[in-house]
Amino acid sequence: MKVFVTGGAGYIGSICVEQLINSGHDVVVFDNLSEGHQKAVDKRARFIEGCLSDRETIINSVVSNKSQIIMHFAANALVGESMVNPSKYFRNNVAYGINLLDAAIEGKVEKFVFSSTCATYGIPEVIPMSENLPLNPINPYGESKVIFEKLLQWYYKLHGLEFVALRYFNAAGASENFGEHHRIETHLIPNVLKVALGQSNQCKIFGTDYPTPDGTCIRDYIHILDLAQAHMLAMEKGKNGFFNLGNGEGYSVRQVIDTCEQISGTKIATVEESRRSGDPPRLIASAQKALEELNWNPKFGSLEKIIESAWAWHKKNPNGYNV
Ligand code: UFG
Repeated sequence: MKVFVTGGAGYIGSICVEQLINSGHDVVVFDNLSEGHQKAVDKRARFIEGCLSDRETIINSVVSNKSQIIMHFAANALVGESMVNPSKYFRNNVAYGINLLDAAIEGKVEKFVFSSTCATYGIPEVIPMSENLPLNPINPYGESKVIFEKLLQWYYKLHGLEFVALRYFNAAGASENFGEHHRIETHLIPNVLKVALGQSNQCKIFGTDYPTPDGTCIRDYIHILDLAQAHMLAMEKGKNGFFNLGNGEGYSVRQVIDTCEQISGTKIATVEESRRSGDPPRLIASAQKALEELNWNPKFGSLEKIIESAWAWHKKNPNGYNV
């Protein structure tokens, strides 16, 4: 199919693009390179450097490429940053995204696949978390994704634009060729592996007084290749709605650090810091709906496999996409 991918130069987008092309799809990447990297764009894709704020360009690009599917990864996605700069999140993730929705209508696109997040739920009342929990985000990042999900529902009702919103838990790991490189790294696994690579002296632990067994936050880490598989399944006709994507297993910050130590064979020095604002204590998915309705079949569910793939990529690319 002809797939139009926004944010295809970013971490999750780049790997989904690679997997889409490996499966025989025809891919156009649209990215402004504010977070992404030109080198992360698979050479087999057509690349358009552009910004979602540019309404005319985005509409022309979707229409002229006869796009059948839109996958929308382009977004700002840092919980902490959204607490200090909410305007950036509502502007980029909501306001400019409307241009893309209109482009989908103009181009008669068949399906819109949206990168959503478990940050839409806020602090969950029940663990593991299913899709019918209330949406009470505790940071502007999560709120921006809730608003966009609402827009999707209206565009479906009023224009018939079919959609799947995939609520990712914590995406991690790498493929052989593409991995995680943010200009300013805030994510746990790459930050820990930087210590293993000798690029930083210690890793910070944000909060050791959470109501969890070891006092640190618990997250459900999901391999990027399993995420990519879910995106391809979501393109199929007749599959619509909201799906959680996670493994149903939670690991604390300390457990992630221990696993990185084992896999890299390096001692990781840590320093305990206060809590990071906007962080819920524990997020664990129930992905039952995706398993049953999308026929999702995750293959790299263990934390070890996820970290092994990340470690292999970082060792091979110690400077990420910088030369
Ligand atoms: N953490 C540390 N030290 C670090 C980095 C992170 O202790 O150097 C902690 C965080 O405080 C948090 C946990 O490790 O408790 C995971 O943090 P990440 O930054 O790796 O991931 P988040 O859970 O904050 O956010 C990620 C994505 C979001 C997504 C969310 C869903 O960035 O887009 O997962 O849980 F919404």
